[in-house]
Amino acid sequence: MVEKGVDIAPANGKLGILLVGLGAVSTTFVAGVEAIRKGMANPIGSLTQMGTIRLGKRTENRCPKIKDFVPLADLDDVVFGAWDIFSDSAYDAARNAGVLEKSQVEDLREQLESLKPMAAVFEQNYVKRITGENVKTGKNKMELAEQLIADIANFKEEKGCDRLVMVFAASTEIFLEQSAVHQTLEAFEKGLYDDDAAIAPSMIYAYAALKSKVPFANGAPNLSCDIPALTKLAVDNGVPICGKDFKTGQTLMKTIIAPGLKARMLGLEGWYSTNILGNRDGEVLDDPENFKTKEESKLSVLEHILQPEVYPELYKDFAHVVRINYYPPRGDNKEGWDSIDIFGWLGYKMQIKIDFLCRDSILAAPLVLDLALFMDLAQRAQMKGVQEWLSFYFKAPQTAPELYPEHDIFIQLMKLKNTLRHLQGEDLITHLGLEYYD
Ligand SMILES: NC(=O)c1ccc[n+]([C@@H]2O[C@H](COP(=O)([O-])OP(=O)(O)OC[C@H]3O[C@@H](n4cnc5c(N)ncnc54)[C@H](O)[C@@H]3O)[C@@H](O)[C@H]2O)c1
Repeated sequence: MVEKGVDIAPANGKLGILLVGLGAVSTTFVAGVEAIRKGMANPIGSLTQMGTIRLGKRTENRCPKIKDFVPLADLDDVVFGAWDIFSDSAYDAARNAGVLEKSQVEDLREQLESLKPMAAVFEQNYVKRITGENVKTGKNKMELAEQLIADIANFKEEKGCDRLVMVFAASTEIFLEQSAVHQTLEAFEKGLYDDDAAIAPSMIYAYAALKSKVPFANGAPNLSCDIPALTKLAVDNGVPICGKDFKTGQTLMKTIIAPGLKARMLGLEGWYSTNILGNRDGEVLDDPENFKTKEESKLSVLEHILQPEVYPELYKDFAHVVRINYYPPRGDNKEGWDSIDIFGWLGYKMQIKIDFLCRDSILAAPLVLDLALFMDLAQRAQMKGVQEWLSFYFKAPQTAPELYPEHDIFIQLMKLKNTLRHLQGEDLITHLGLEYYD
């Protein structure tokens, strides 16, 4: 056992979870937490609630639950706030999203009805397919940021919160690349005053969170806090940030299977992925400019896991295609097909087919919970800036600029757990294990 871990402030008092976007993912998350608190469900899919962590040697039999090992906020101490461009309460929004059974939403009606979204910062140009009425106005983007900062302070005061975290689960914005206005805080703040078109609403939420010293996790693929101006602000203000794009559905499967193929030195000729999806997210992604943001996020995964430059005989020039088709009858129950062309000994070809009948928001909701609780932990442990140890949750993990992201889900999980061991002063686990045979 190492002498000392990191000083972590206790998780006393209430934790406010501020959700940007009160759509399918957010309402499924809130309803789930309410159901779990009432003893009506188990927190399935949540590592913070159900996962364990091995400590010390395999002979020691120390394997506590993660929530008993590190001081996480208790679910009973969590309160919710949200912004959305529609003024529907979480009850109406959950009914519209159609993820959960109507009877289940009815059982939670009182709690869900009490969550009403604050007016959003929104600009049609960034999300083409939807229009709402619950939107802030201001003379420039800085004024909108100030209104969000005031919302955050009022929420904290009204709900009597000790701490806050913000999770971005609003619609995917159009594809943006970094430009000069994103490089420094001075340029960014000037851009807010000048209404610079390269500052998207998600960046204004991130800015407001960081100015308020509230950790920010980005569940969508937009740049948001992944720009030098905001990563620097996060470090300067001692605030943790992470992103981007919740790793659910098809990309989750990809980052489970690709490391296995590579581990066995099996080659890949091509990986074709297509989805049909009928929820509002699917509708937004039906616009080519919004889809491009998602496509970039989904495409990077295989290249990084398979390393074609290191294994040209196995992975050079494999074909990788990703499609999402908006198909309303499916609602949130996405169907994802993967056709994977691989080759083995002497180059003989084989195929793998996956037909994943998944539920997008059911897979995403526990990630919102884990991210909120781990980001709160990170802040109490004085961790600031990019939290790469939370890559486990993302399709396009945010990293330091000089690093490529780690996509292999098993390495991501090991990194996450070793970070928790490090925080608590436990030995890191290397899996060497020679000592058992001495
Ligand atoms: N469900 C998944 O498995 C999954 C996985 C990865 C990423 N995501 C991302 O998470 C986000 C949410 O997904 P969803 O299925 O809940 O979508 P959704 O369309 O049901 O919900 C998004 C909500 O955000 C609101 N919104 C849009 N712009 C806003 C703004 N500027 N401010 C406040 N609210 C705004 C919309 O009105 C809508 O209610 C999307 O960006 C999606 O791409 C989802």
